[in-house]
Amino acid sequence: MAKEYRLLLSYTEKPESHTIEAYESLGGYSGLRRALEMEPDEIIEEVKKAGLKGRGGAAFPTGRKWSFIPKDHPGPKYVVDNADEGEPGTFKDRELLYRAPHLVLEGMTIAGRAIGAREGYMYLRYEYLWIFPRIKRAIREAYAKGYLGKNILGSGFDFDIYVYLGAGAYIAGYAVSTLESLEGKRPYPRLKPPRTSQVGLYGKPTAVNNVETHANVPIILSKGADWYSQLGTPESRGTRLFSISGAVKRPGVYEFELGSLTLREFIYDVAGVPEDAEILGVFPGGLSSQILTPDELDVPMTHEDLEKVGSTLGSGAVIVLDRSTSALKVLRRAIEFFSYESCGKCTPCREGGNWMTRLLVNAEKRGYMTKDDVSLLREIADMMRGRNFCPLGDSAEMVARVFLSKYEDELTRQPVAA
Ligand SMILES: Cc1cc2nc3c(=O)[nH]c(=O)nc-3n(C[C@H](O)[C@H](O)[C@H](O)COP(=O)(O)O)c2cc1C
Repeated sequence: MAKEYRLLLSYTEKPESHTIEAYESLGGYSGLRRALEMEPDEIIEEVKKAGLKGRGGAAFPTGRKWSFIPKDHPGPKYVVDNADEGEPGTFKDRELLYRAPHLVLEGMTIAGRAIGAREGYMYLRYEYLWIFPRIKRAIREAYAKGYLGKNILGSGFDFDIYVYLGAGAYIAGYAVSTLESLEGKRPYPRLKPPRTSQVGLYGKPTAVNNVETHANVPIILSKGADWYSQLGTPESRGTRLFSISGAVKRPGVYEFELGSLTLREFIYDVAGVPEDAEILGVFPGGLSSQILTPDELDVPMTHEDLEKVGSTLGSGAVIVLDRSTSALKVLRRAIEFFSYESCGKCTPCREGGNWMTRLLVNAEKRGYMTKDDVSLLREIADMMRGRNFCPLGDSAEMVARVFLSKYEDELTRQPVAA
């Protein structure tokens, strides 16, 4: 595709791209070599200068996150790679884990060096069990070549990586819940603060990052922050992987320089919309991002531009919906998902989600929402707003409110009798 900029994806293209030989032939592990010659603080400064923001959804600056880890802490400290990839519509981390696992392992190791950790945990979603053998193989290869283990490349730095399989819960991808799950408990979210950088895994300072975030780190170290920060816009640096699905001709994972195209160009020019399809709406960054209507698609794909239209780049999952479905069905399905995945720890999310689901299931059976349904749904969403223990409940009430504000006419339109 003319517009594609394959930076991370360039490591996925060789037939045996997952092997250490293929990875090294592309300059793999040169970022780690450079990092081992630098002071930990210098690595953090380099990542800050590159302007890398987290790719897991919240877009928090990675270098800043690492700088919160207390330097004088006696340890242990931990690196956690969030490979839970649970946001509906998201399937880009899978591509990296399956085809370029060394890029992720190298990123985790550099993160360990930067924050003074000796252990890294990859939290792999249970549904990616089939990728597990490849990751294990990559870890074995890295140990054999001295990129992991004791005294890495003679530097005196030790780092081990372990892979932990989740059990299939969406909430387990939320960093504080990920840590609970890693500790062998139910993934109930923890209260914040304290931040995970202060009190994380086993109560120790921990840097949790998304797979794609870690995958950017070796590239920043090997090519340099000055080079990297030229990509994208001042607020949204680098490239991003986007997984696009739904009413498009060519679904899949694409990589673009941030800000190099609009959402409309991505959907129509790159992924292609079937001739007979009429767009109903688009989630630009996973189900938790706010849906955009067909007239809102001329937005450049950057953090700042999507924020201006009240949404987010989220996890980079573009879900395109056409009119073969209805606003009511999409809303019911979304709320049902959040309600099903509610951990039940707090009342607004547990009860509110369930109540909204029942209301919407009934409305769907009827074919439309009554005016009473609309005001009740709004009331439940308002009741939940700001009162949930974690962002999962916030996503549910926000989706409901945004659908009511953008699609109320459609939601309440009575089907015309045949
Ligand atoms: C309900 C919920 C689910 C999440 N699931 C994931 C996930 O599957 N993968 C991920 O990387 N981040 C997920 N996150 C975001 C993480 O909490 C966290 O922000 C992220 O892993 C930090 O990495 P980053 O700074 O590199 O983006 C989720 C957040 C919430 C609220």
